[in-house]
Amino acid sequence: MKNENKNGCMWYDTDGNPIQAHAGMILCHKDTYYWYGQNMGGETDRRDTGLHRVDFIGFSCYSSTDCVHWKNEGLVLSACSEPGHPLHPDRVGERPKVLYNEQTRKFVLWFHLDSSDYFTAHAGVAVADSPTGPFRFIREISPNGYDCRDMTLFRDTDGKAYLIYSSDWNKTLRIAQLTDDFLDVNGVFSHAFPEQEREAPAIFTKNGVYYMITSGCTGWDPNNALFGTSKNIFSGWKLIGDPCTGENARQTYFGQSTYIFEKDGVHYLMLDHWKPDDLQMSGYSILPIQTEKGHLTIAFQEYTDL
Ligand code: DGJ
Repeated sequence: MKNENKNGCMWYDTDGNPIQAHAGMILCHKDTYYWYGQNMGGETDRRDTGLHRVDFIGFSCYSSTDCVHWKNEGLVLSACSEPGHPLHPDRVGERPKVLYNEQTRKFVLWFHLDSSDYFTAHAGVAVADSPTGPFRFIREISPNGYDCRDMTLFRDTDGKAYLIYSSDWNKTLRIAQLTDDFLDVNGVFSHAFPEQEREAPAIFTKNGVYYMITSGCTGWDPNNALFGTSKNIFSGWKLIGDPCTGENARQTYFGQSTYIFEKDGVHYLMLDHWKPDDLQMSGYSILPIQTEKGHLTIAFQEYTDL
């Protein structure tokens, strides 16, 4: 189906408003797609430190039956103005990721929860009965005692779920198994790419191989993506190379990875195209990933005719 939204640009919802679902993910549940992401629809505070930020507003959800036209379902977890609240607007809430837990029939949301200087480096957990929320905030944690910044969730083919997060001041990625209800980490964890300074992790598995695409650590500025592979979620991860090809490949087409989802047997990489001076207008791309003999290839193209 034709998509009026252009990769690399701001995307618009079915009401014609800019989609506020940055650093997000797409979950397919009962034939409907749900796009969750950061609502950054406020003014960008341009700090001298270079830490451009938007006060925390909450996480949005958009729904679609074709994965092309997106209806705004509103905020599914909102900031709380009560002083000292973990979700206060002066905090950072980034990279929301949602999994459905079949045993509990709950939707579980994890995200990067931080202070405005990014020094606290925690994860937040929330839960809902419906994909469109509202999500109830449960806890703020330091997963297995480690700092947690950019993160993602991954649900393996055996139903086990993992939190994958940049740790050790972004030097190393950690992979932590979740409890059966997905509401906490269970103490089983490992790491990948030590001292490689990777962030924005996005992961999928195909034919017994795990693939992880990450970015380098350059704030809101683009850099080159790298993918790594392993046959075991916990060990043996190797960085292989840049999956992007063609013009502007070395800057990931001026985007940054956030999630990989599967539709009709094809894996798609979601990118954010950050606009540090006006973060709310940061754009999006959804690009198909080619997998061949353990190698990934991505080309910049329009997300149309699915
Ligand atoms: C890079 C991260 O990938 C983003 O999610 C965000 O935390 C920015 N850094 C902030 O500078």
